[in-house]
Amino acid sequence: MTILDGKKISNDIKAEIKAEVDEMKANGEKVPHLAAIIVGNDGASMTYVNTKVKACEKVGFESTLVRMSSTTSEVELMDKIEKLNKEDSIDGFIVQLPLPPQIDTQKVLLAVDPDKDVDGFHPTNFGKMSLDMTSFIPATPFGILELLERYNIPTKGKHTVVIGRSHIVGRPMSILMGRSGFPGNSTVTLTHEYTKNITQITSQADIVIIAVGIPDFLKAEMIKDDAVVIDVGITRVPDESTKKGYVLKGDVDFENASKKASYITPVPGGVGPMTIAMLLKNTLLAREQRRERK
Ligand code: GUN
Repeated sequence: MTILDGKKISNDIKAEIKAEVDEMKANGEKVPHLAAIIVGNDGASMTYVNTKVKACEKVGFESTLVRMSSTTSEVELMDKIEKLNKEDSIDGFIVQLPLPPQIDTQKVLLAVDPDKDVDGFHPTNFGKMSLDMTSFIPATPFGILELLERYNIPTKGKHTVVIGRSHIVGRPMSILMGRSGFPGNSTVTLTHEYTKNITQITSQADIVIIAVGIPDFLKAEMIKDDAVVIDVGITRVPDESTKKGYVLKGDVDFENASKKASYITPVPGGVGPMTIAMLLKNTLLAREQRRERK
């Protein structure tokens, strides 16, 4: 069994990005600039956004964090997005999800300029991705593709089972694994909360990608010998014995599933760091595309 070391691979990617940024600087060019909007003060979301900002510093990007209160109205958020769309110094930006209930997430995502949509959530980018066109690919699925590629894990003709149909992970992942090329060319089954006999399906999978946010959902009995297991889940489970008061749990019963799998991602240190690295990659691409257009 091999652990898919997302921490290490993400550091490799960040080093590659930094080398490109250093070259941009040496040539007197503008460096990539990422902005992130966060509405409210959910602990996990704050942690993610701060991690994204710190990662920008590490590779030499400029970054801007826009904090808005939990009572922000939809109009106020749309105004901010409009400003970032127009702000020439900003190459890409993200709106951290989830948003508070008074705000319509679909409407907000539609307002982001697709050329600055480094999360790849705008329907224009999602549509292009589905049609094999060049686009921003959502960072988490992009990170999973990158892990499969860098570990040279065969995907052609394999049965990939995706558990969870969220717009930011499961749905795009199911599309990407079925596209032509590598990683891709898989036969894909997308499962969700209404799927019947899920064990019957997962036990036939060569590759299982799970993103449901339910700790220990995928048990060892549900996978076949030598399956590749990608765990996107990262849930804070209260634990008073720890300093933070919680532990992070994936969607996979790692202890037992790792005895059966050929490759498996740990939580933390698997998919999470890859998401950050690929957001940086998308921001670098956004900068390069803007440079080409000028
Ligand atoms: N919330 C959970 N994952 C993500 C992500 O990749 N991007 C944004 N913007 N919000 C998220």
